[in-house]
Amino acid sequence: ELIDSGTVTWESPSNIALIKYWGKRDQQIPENPSISFTLSACKTITTVDYEKKATAEDFSFEVFLNDEKKADFKPKIETFFKRIEGYVPFLKHYHFTIKTQNTFPHSSGIASSASGMSALALCLMSIEKALSNIQDESEAASEYFNRKASFLARLGSGSACRSVAGDLVVWGQTQSIAGSSNLFGVKYPYSVHKNFKEYQDTILLIDKGEKQVSSTLGHELMYGHPYAEARFSQAHDHMEMLKTILKTGDLQAFIDLIESEALTLHAMMMTSNPYFILMKPHTLEVINLIWKFREETGLHVGFTLDAGANVHVLYPKAEKDLVLEFIEAELAAYCKDEAYICDTVGLGAQQV
Ligand code: PMV
Repeated sequence: ELIDSGTVTWESPSNIALIKYWGKRDQQIPENPSISFTLSACKTITTVDYEKKATAEDFSFEVFLNDEKKADFKPKIETFFKRIEGYVPFLKHYHFTIKTQNTFPHSSGIASSASGMSALALCLMSIEKALSNIQDESEAASEYFNRKASFLARLGSGSACRSVAGDLVVWGQTQSIAGSSNLFGVKYPYSVHKNFKEYQDTILLIDKGEKQVSSTLGHELMYGHPYAEARFSQAHDHMEMLKTILKTGDLQAFIDLIESEALTLHAMMMTSNPYFILMKPHTLEVINLIWKFREETGLHVGFTLDAGANVHVLYPKAEKDLVLEFIEAELAAYCKDEAYICDTVGLGAQQV
């Protein structure tokens, strides 16, 4: 029998890339492989109410952020729906009320596109499952569910495909990782040293302003970029290096690799045409203080950056107390309103 209406809820985390995705082809196909830690505290919770319509002409939906209607979210979701329509045939047959909220402040400079798009994609997959009337709880069925959710999320926002299943997720076809794909994220399939268990990510909110440059534009600027080919091939090499690091637990090599990745991402922005700088003076202050602290203490604290000014401070759980003391005493002053978010590696999205 046909289902007329229902409601589904998913919470899906943000993720932080260790090897960065920067540059894409049509249909959100990445130019290089990337890998990220799924986060835990930073997430989006999305509820979708669906109701069958009399006609199936156009997409019909409303979006609410924190119970407030958000008309300005509609174009992005409309674009997303257009891209996935062929894979989600029921889309035009239902009216959707999308209610979403983030655990992190909206204008914190933490991108909500990965957590938001993955949460929405997972809701659509739950609806697909409900409409299909098949109660298959096998491992193959759950693999299909996650894979397609990641596939759909990718079409909303590339890095969102890495937020479905944690903890380490690879996206982009590369020789080093068996089963890797350009179309969806896969769980990192090899052994990971205990040093990386419950790895910590403290996000320093350096600048809460809206991004000056969208990642869409940033990806586009990799076309004809003078260093693009070298960068893409470096990402493959880095994946191979990271495999060894993750296996052996070599924290020093890990720091060298992730910091190089972060600075390379920003170097690509600084050398594109037009060029731009997303780091702020406080970003650099913090980086220098991290380097100084590391030299003085021998602790394994490193940083990475997204396409913005915020700094993700990464360190092993065993060093948590000392590093947090340092962050509070020396780095907090460089954050807007002294605000930072303590997060850890998480295990991916969950149905609520
Ligand atoms: O998913 P997008 O299109 O917003 O791109 C995000 C790219 C970076 O966050 C800068 C790097 C990454 O791999 O997450």
